[in-house]
Amino acid sequence: MKKLTNKDELQALRQQAQQEIAERNQNKNRIIVGMGTCGIAAGAQDVVNEILKELQRRHITNVEVVRTGCIGMCEREVLIDVVRAGEDRVTYGQVVPRDIPRIIGEHIVNGRIVEDMVVGRLTAV
Ligand code: FES
Repeated sequence: MKKLTNKDELQALRQQAQQEIAERNQNKNRIIVGMGTCGIAAGAQDVVNEILKELQRRHITNVEVVRTGCIGMCEREVLIDVVRAGEDRVTYGQVVPRDIPRIIGEHIVNGRIVEDMVVGRLTAV
């Protein structure tokens, strides 16, 4: 890698990296699971296991399952974010394993947000 010699080069590198990340995320379906301490205590690992099983059951291969840390709403754990490529990022709260077939079937497969479980939403840019 080329050695950076000034602040402008660093800023250009940062911009390039941000653009690459944005492009990469734009083309991906993702399910992001909060695996902070409170998420794990609330059962996040069981939710991850069910997500992986349900994707396998449905032969869905174009969804990346991502574990992240604290999402910031302890009382709503287990929290998962579902992102269909190019669409809003939708946060579901108080998710338990039996909710997963519904969330994957409705949101990932059919593109219909499971409104009664939504606790937050980030508009796609
Ligand atoms: S510590 Fe609970 S959501 Fe961050």
